[in-house]
Amino acid sequence: MIPATRTDPLFFLSDQLNDLKTKGTHFRLRVLDDEQAAICTFDGKRVINLASNNYLGLTTHPKLREAALEATRKYGVGSGAVRTIAGTMKIHMELEEKIARFKNVEACVVFQSGFAANAGTVSAILGKDDFIISDQLNHASIIDGARLSRAKILVFEHNGVFSMDGDIGPLPGLCDVAEKYGAIMMVDDAHASGVLGRNGRGTVDHFKVHGRVDIQVGTLSKAIGALGGYVCGTRDLIDFLYHRARPFLFSTSHPPSVAATCIAAFEVLENEPERIEKLWENTRFWKKELGLLGFDIGGRNTPASETPIIPIIIGDGKLTMDFSRELFQEGVLGTGIAYPTVPEGKARIRTIMTATHTKEELEQALEVLEKVGRRMGILG
Ligand SMILES: Cc1ncc(COP(=O)(O)O)c(C=O)c1O
Repeated sequence: MIPATRTDPLFFLSDQLNDLKTKGTHFRLRVLDDEQAAICTFDGKRVINLASNNYLGLTTHPKLREAALEATRKYGVGSGAVRTIAGTMKIHMELEEKIARFKNVEACVVFQSGFAANAGTVSAILGKDDFIISDQLNHASIIDGARLSRAKILVFEHNGVFSMDGDIGPLPGLCDVAEKYGAIMMVDDAHASGVLGRNGRGTVDHFKVHGRVDIQVGTLSKAIGALGGYVCGTRDLIDFLYHRARPFLFSTSHPPSVAATCIAAFEVLENEPERIEKLWENTRFWKKELGLLGFDIGGRNTPASETPIIPIIIGDGKLTMDFSRELFQEGVLGTGIAYPTVPEGKARIRTIMTATHTKEELEQALEVLEKVGRRMGILG
């Protein structure tokens, strides 16, 4: 029985939550009632969805759905173990081979998420005698991996492919520097997999720097439509990660349905390039129209977007969250992102284009953005 006098040792969490409430940046999770799609229902409200990473609309692709169902019927719902114990199924190996062929590299290892791929790789290959040169805005998974490795971390001013601003890093120049100093070159292609390069082969293909990047990390959770992360590189790199990457060694592998879904997704990338073309057509339209309305879409005090991630920079955290809530009331889901996800004073609504938004849906979303933007004094 809990003694009546016991004080709650977690009381400080309530204080911190109250702090967020005072600042106006506390949020409640929005719950999706149906499929992840361009038009969907969150919390019972039909909205135009400008918030997902479902770049190519693959979350609901019939071929991927069927692949998941077939794998479940054939192999069951779980893998039952970590990869190194008894949880490596034939279908996991097939997926790794498929990705390695697609990326034209020797080998690939699949992790449970992009987060696990980044954190697991950085922490496995580096140690306390190493230096990490890391972009200021690197994803939390890279930062955590770097901290776990105990290497010395040198942070350089933002210069990369980034999920909050949508800019693309100057990869050839970074490769030059890495080659000059004999550094290992690693790219986190979470938002470039399926989006940039031929058939979505990623940033290395986009810049044609094949053979100059040692470690290519990608995610299976965004454009690929399912779940997971992967690392591509030499056979030895992958073999080493099989032996030393902690999420690989200590966390159960994907259900067979996930592996089957991802295999089908890479087939779609190869066979339906029109999806990527449509994504870029929508991106060009959206960027142009938002700019014409007078929104700050980056390029003033923040990096200019070059990808389907297009932020509407507001600045103040509370105003951003209020803007997001008002947009939702008017039928548009645009997630507000504030500190600590982005630096203080650079809060924004992050909008993301997909291949499945129609022109009519985008025009309707623009009308709502303009109306609410004027009402709240965000647009002049
Ligand atoms: C830049 C970046 N890297 C890595 C990840 C992690 O990917 P995942 O969602 O597959 O864990 C994300 C996504 O959240 C990301 O935006």
